[in-house]
Amino acid sequence: MSDRATAGTPEPTGPGDTADATVGATDAARTAETEEAVSCRGLEYSFGDTKAVSGLDLSVRSGEVFGLLGPNGAGKTTAIRCITTLLPVPAGMVRVFGHDAAKERMAVRRLLGYVPQQLSADAALTGRENVTLFARVFDVSRRERAERVAQALEAVDLTSAADRLAKTYSGGMVRRLELAQALVSAPRLLMLDEPTIGLDPIARTSVWEHINAVRNATGMTVLVTTHYMDEAEQYCDRVALMHRGRIHALGTPGELRTELRERRVAAGGKAAGETAPTLEDVFRDVAGRGLEEEGGDFRDVRNTRRTASRVG
Ligand SMILES: Nc1ncnc2c1ncn2[C@@H]1O[C@H](COP(=O)(O)OP(=O)(O)OP(=O)(O)O)[C@@H](O)[C@H]1O
Ligand SMILES: [Mg+2]
Repeated sequence: MSDRATAGTPEPTGPGDTADATVGATDAARTAETEEAVSCRGLEYSFGDTKAVSGLDLSVRSGEVFGLLGPNGAGKTTAIRCITTLLPVPAGMVRVFGHDAAKERMAVRRLLGYVPQQLSADAALTGRENVTLFARVFDVSRRERAERVAQALEAVDLTSAADRLAKTYSGGMVRRLELAQALVSAPRLLMLDEPTIGLDPIARTSVWEHINAVRNATGMTVLVTTHYMDEAEQYCDRVALMHRGRIHALGTPGELRTELRERRVAAGGKAAGETAPTLEDVFRDVAGRGLEEEGGDFRDVRNTRRTASRVG
């Protein structure tokens, strides 16, 4: 990445992707050094004039389910794509289990599974073919491939539908198929960008149950974005509220609710005797704060629509 602005710290295994061959040997040592699954410091990313990520600091602890929340256009997907190495890291630092996303892209990719916001399954292939494709891309050895594909499909309850074309799947089945695609490489970090968007309540619960079952079995770390505050409340150990490219609030859902209540009480507002704030109130508080400070602008609306049309 020639446009990378900040020099990273020296790598114990040497610079660049060429170091990847030796990474296995030092993996355990490195992991012992850090409890952090993901670490971003001062991450910046712009699309032309649009600053999508603006000085993002983020730490995801190994083993936790971490929710990245925030309004449309906050920069969540962009940040996630930087962490997955699909976008470069033009400025700042991103590490995944100690590996620098700018310098050790293959090592980072081998550690993670990714369910993108946009559709990633191919409608013209069967479920099994889709998962097999990901197994190849993610370097699952030919010897293990069939077995691992079958396990991933089983883990999301798609064994009986595995040999049907994906275009015959319901929305919930497609999302579970994409989960299988992300799980087939046995990732230590699972990144999910709005995994349950557009699903009915039963399908949403089903996606989460499958995520949690794999997590309980493997101890993998989960980084998830969602607009559903009830999911964040129920399934995330900690959440961060992102707005205009950086984090504005961080904690367990309970901590964030308590903090808002205390702030309202301290402000002498009517809140003292009112019902306790919800996570949605915290979300509105953070998202609304930005609008008051800077005034909602047209570009934001335009950008959000562009995001919406790209997705929809
Ligand atoms: N490929 C792109 N080209 C131009 N601008 C982009 C592109 N992708 C994102 N943006 C802009 O970057 C900003 C952040 O977008 P991003 O998709 O990261 O937000 P988000 O938090 O994921 O939003 P949402 O909740 O709608 O998914 C927005 O202003 C968006 O319009
Ligand atoms: Mg997004």
